[in-house]
Amino acid sequence: MDAEYSIVDLAVDMRNLNKRIVHFSAIDSTNRFLLEENDLPGGTVVWADYQSAGRGRFNRSWQSPPGDALLFSILLREPYCAISLSVYPLLAAVGVYAGLRSVLPEDNALSVKWPNDILLNGKKVCGILAQSRMKGARCESLVVGIGLNVNQAKDFFQDNLKNASSIFLETSRQMDRFEILRRVLVEIDHLLTELSVSGRSVIMEKWSSACDSVGQMIVIHDGKETVSGYFRGVASDGAMRLETGSGMRTFYAGDVSVVKE
Ligand code: BTN
Repeated sequence: MDAEYSIVDLAVDMRNLNKRIVHFSAIDSTNRFLLEENDLPGGTVVWADYQSAGRGRFNRSWQSPPGDALLFSILLREPYCAISLSVYPLLAAVGVYAGLRSVLPEDNALSVKWPNDILLNGKKVCGILAQSRMKGARCESLVVGIGLNVNQAKDFFQDNLKNASSIFLETSRQMDRFEILRRVLVEIDHLLTELSVSGRSVIMEKWSSACDSVGQMIVIHDGKETVSGYFRGVASDGAMRLETGSGMRTFYAGDVSVVKE
């Protein structure tokens, strides 16, 4: 394993995740680290204060000043790796939503945005990147990486991040990253149990109740085309259902924006 890490105890028992988490003050990317790791068991969580090469969706970079953001990744192996992988980004989004809901005042508008962003007062405060390592058709490991903007100040959000914000900016409160981490992991652990007991539909129902853009006109860009239509919710595998002028369409990935009508 890479040098310069310590083990931090979350002091809460979980069924699927290890409460002893691996903490780096600096690393290139917590997702990269876990994806290349062969020896660590499923349920391992790696948390870093700083990433020098953090990755976002569509291979974008994901940056944050040291100590401001909550940057962590969860390693899942069998049996979770065998379930349809598209459920995990949405499951993680529900976990972050529930963890944040428990620390934020009621009047802060919190919602999930398809597929796996968390919005606070309409601004993105969290992104999730799920990556898998396959051997043929078999999933060897699945890594769910979560980047949560906690205490960044205004000057961090330059023009290219105008739709993003931090919890601090939205609430005027500096937050304890470790406490948020603990709450989010407890929620994700609980959701993993629910997934194995009751299946994907429970996760999709929870995701839908945390989403406030179902029924709204949206535009999605999936890398090949830009399509607009009414967001009709998620299918059981997490895909977006979009009612377009030429019928119902299904999308598995893309950048989404809500059209103000
Ligand atoms: C997005 O583009 O919205 C997803 C961003 C995911 C960033 C997190 S930070 C922790 C983990 N390590 C990475 O390199 N990426 C993810």
